[in-house]
Amino acid sequence: MVKRQLAISSDPAKLISPIPMQLDPVRMPDHLAIIMDGNGRWAKKRGLPRVMGHKAGVEALKTTLRLASNWGIGALTVYAFSTENWSRPGEEVNFLMSLFENVLQRELNLLKLEQVKISFIGDLSPLPIRLKGLIKEATEQTSANKGIHFNVCTNYGGRRELVLAAQKLAKRCINGELEPDLIDENAFAAELLTANDVDPDLVIRTSGERRISNFLLWQLAYAEIHITETLWPDFNENALIQALIDYQSRRRRFGGLEAESSKHYEI
Ligand code: FPP
Repeated sequence: MVKRQLAISSDPAKLISPIPMQLDPVRMPDHLAIIMDGNGRWAKKRGLPRVMGHKAGVEALKTTLRLASNWGIGALTVYAFSTENWSRPGEEVNFLMSLFENVLQRELNLLKLEQVKISFIGDLSPLPIRLKGLIKEATEQTSANKGIHFNVCTNYGGRRELVLAAQKLAKRCINGELEPDLIDENAFAAELLTANDVDPDLVIRTSGERRISNFLLWQLAYAEIHITETLWPDFNENALIQALIDYQSRRRRFGGLEAESSKHYEI
């Protein structure tokens, strides 16, 4: 496995935080995926407009990215905007687009300094032109970075991603580049938007909802799932530690048998 370069920071308050004692450094996930949910409810509880929850959610995301990077997690993939989110009130959609723009502009230098490689996954074509420009700039300027790979799912839908992968494979077959019988799981996975990452080992969903919501449908096949009642803007270092403790307590079987249960019995 590629050894990732850990984050550095010129800000003493953001110096590398070591892996907490409660966690086994050898069993950290290589890839963490997060459904950041509960921003609206967080705001409502405080009598604030829903969009203030999204604003607060950015701070939780920055904290999580920095900790994941410092603790040697290779990739972090977050669900920032789904293909279904366009159906929200126009004001909220516009706020989110402006928020993405402002955050990208404000944080790009720090992402570069901290060796984060940022990618945007999804159909970016309907996004505002200014946002598309900033995404291109951020992607290009961080593409050679050796630290954590930060995937931001934007206008992303898992089913759409699968349909597009099938279309690409079909076209290659029609062009004579590929035999249909040779399409296997590796060939399929290579056409997905996450082709350069290992599949997530752990998916966290905040705010207590128990759904996958069209997120990484192929890639989450064997992921461990951690559901927390914590609303996304309240997700902090302690919540991440709890999720990782939960993950490290699981025995991953990938459809096989655990070592102890496959022992030989005499008849
Ligand atoms: C779900 O909460 C959250 C979202 C749809 C948006 C998440 C976006 C961010 C945290 C900002 C990320 C910023 C960048 C630059 C990547 P919800 O609104 O569905 O909450 P609710 O279920 O309580 O209504």
